[in-house]
Amino acid sequence: MRNLNAQNITDAVIEAFSKCPDERLKTVLDSLVEHLHAFIREVEPSEREWTQAIDFLTRTGHMCDDQRQEFILLSDTLGVTMLVDAINHHSSNPKVSESTVLGPFYVADPPMVAQGESIDWNVEGEPFYVEGKVHDESGQPLANVVVDVWQSDSEGFYDVQKELEGASLRARFSTDAEGRYAFWTVTPSPYPIPTDGPVGKMLEATGRHPYRPAHVHFMLMAEGFDTLVTQVFAEGDPYLDSDAVFGVKDSLVMDYTSLPPGPAPDGRSMNVPFRHLKYDFGLKSSSKANTV
Ligand code: BEZ
Ligand code: FE
Repeated sequence: MRNLNAQNITDAVIEAFSKCPDERLKTVLDSLVEHLHAFIREVEPSEREWTQAIDFLTRTGHMCDDQRQEFILLSDTLGVTMLVDAINHHSSNPKVSESTVLGPFYVADPPMVAQGESIDWNVEGEPFYVEGKVHDESGQPLANVVVDVWQSDSEGFYDVQKELEGASLRARFSTDAEGRYAFWTVTPSPYPIPTDGPVGKMLEATGRHPYRPAHVHFMLMAEGFDTLVTQVFAEGDPYLDSDAVFGVKDSLVMDYTSLPPGPAPDGRSMNVPFRHLKYDFGLKSSSKANTV
């Protein structure tokens, strides 16, 4: 292993891993070395550029703590999160809902809320009634599915980004005997992903905007089914075709229907205009890898 050059160094590094006792680890590292070396051969970075790359990754690491995960944001904005999602969640059954990126604003164990209640604590906005059903792959309703929801407010901020006392626009529901969930909230708006770190600098330097189209996040969990992490986007949103994290799928885009004052779908009488979203979710029977 001497006199290595741009042609033979890749084989030498792979050979150095040859005694790795963990087969999967060896496969991953061999491939990483192969592709990383090919990338370097193609790009031919100057030493200054390579130092800048290391500095970018160092700043990305320094930006991370319990609240902020800049590496996930980097993965999101490079399309890697959605690529991993595509590899791990695909079903040819149209009754199974599609998944998308989790994002950084999920908080475990949100407040449990009764069906049909409002989750718009401490925020103002256009009233929005969201409802639907959860079913299995054959369309049979599923009772007692844990449905976690979270979303931004009408200015594009999540509760964790504001100095709020307690949760807002996030909650947990349990589906009823007919598989139904329902809640009142406010209509979310498009918003920028966090741009105060190296990922924001990368977007700016490359002429990319940081916006995500308006959406409501859902996480559905039920014994015997893969956990579904997804979002429902607003039809007509200007960022549907340029989501900063590549998370939009046609099946997840729905009309957030505008309705005039008057009776709401749950029988409530509204004295202001409001919106309505109806979305049914299909869960896939468990594959071991994705069970909670
Ligand atoms: C979100 O939708 O909350 C999100 C997803 C990825 C990156 C940033 C935000
Ligand atoms: Fe979001």
